[in-house]
Amino acid sequence: MTDTVDEEQARPARRQATVGGPGRRDWSTWPRYEKAALGFREYWYPVAWSRKIGSKPRAIQVLGEKIMLIRDGGEVRALHDRCPHRGVPLSHKMSSQEFPGTWSCCYHGWTFDLETGVLVAAITDGPESPICGKVTVRTYPVQEARGLVWVWLGDGPARPFADDVPEELLDPDAVVVGRITVRDGNWRFGAENGFDDGHAKWLHRNALWTKRVKMPVWSEMKVIRDGPWITRRKDKMHYSASFPGLGDFPKKKWYRRREGNKTKVSLRLPGTLRVKYAEWSHFEWWVAATAENHTYVQLAVMNQGKWRNRKFWLYYWTWARWVFHGMFNDEDRLMVEVTDAPPERLYRPDVSLTEWRRMVEEEARRSPVEEVKERQAEKRRAKHD
Ligand code: FES
Repeated sequence: MTDTVDEEQARPARRQATVGGPGRRDWSTWPRYEKAALGFREYWYPVAWSRKIGSKPRAIQVLGEKIMLIRDGGEVRALHDRCPHRGVPLSHKMSSQEFPGTWSCCYHGWTFDLETGVLVAAITDGPESPICGKVTVRTYPVQEARGLVWVWLGDGPARPFADDVPEELLDPDAVVVGRITVRDGNWRFGAENGFDDGHAKWLHRNALWTKRVKMPVWSEMKVIRDGPWITRRKDKMHYSASFPGLGDFPKKKWYRRREGNKTKVSLRLPGTLRVKYAEWSHFEWWVAATAENHTYVQLAVMNQGKWRNRKFWLYYWTWARWVFHGMFNDEDRLMVEVTDAPPERLYRPDVSLTEWRRMVEEEARRSPVEEVKERQAEKRRAKHD
């Protein structure tokens, strides 16, 4: 489906952005988005590098939930990181594996099957403990792909993995490199920053990564929907502008370098950014850990044949990792940490943000509980009408 956002649809956001009155400053236009401080659960999320998950548990936090990752018999398992007995983290360094395929809590020896989460032994209550089989710790579906561990926290059945993973990452011959870090700030500020048209031209104007291209001062932009993606399309770039009463901008030399920033920037649910360059793609995920921080996944992906892939790998480790995934994206990190909205007062380029929020509002998957609640609300509305 390709659906250009038409004037009518874009108008509320533009009016909000340009009319001189107080305008809408809160997020009540996007109630689902407003409530999603901990993200949307019915999606696959990348959470760790595969190579970092071994036979020792690794504690992580995803969408507000504490999770223990561990590799057992070659498979990565994900369990709720809380012993149902007295709430001790199962990932505690004193916990241990006493029987194959199980994990024993360090406090009283409750022992859980790693695949199903069922309590299979309460060591300190003997082999006939009547509690066995009556308690289960939640386990989560896991996928390992492209060197990453992906988890499903949804309340509904896990969706096909390919529904949530960009096609470049499903290519088994692609080279995939990147960084995973935990950063401060709500995940929505990260996703919005990635797709924010205004910041790209201003915040990063001095970044080493963008020194090679001539940055526009402003652009005539449309936001289009293209399958699961929302994409910023720059119809016309303006490399200088005359501001009445102020003078001409720019006069700085970094703007006099070659033109030609042909990158295509897109965003999709559950908060996945793609920056498409001519030969390779850059991806980012902001996976809510808590409402105040997130796991930030950056990937660089390319498949142009064996030798060019190797060259790209070298290019990444000697340049892009430090200059792009490091210095450039650190400028974003600083902004994501300090963004404090709403309230907010938007301007014209923020149509990229409002269209993203509108897409989330319409398309974010609902959990089975949300679906039931919405059906009940609809029934109530119908009764009143
Ligand atoms: Fe885990 Fe008691 S708290 S066995």
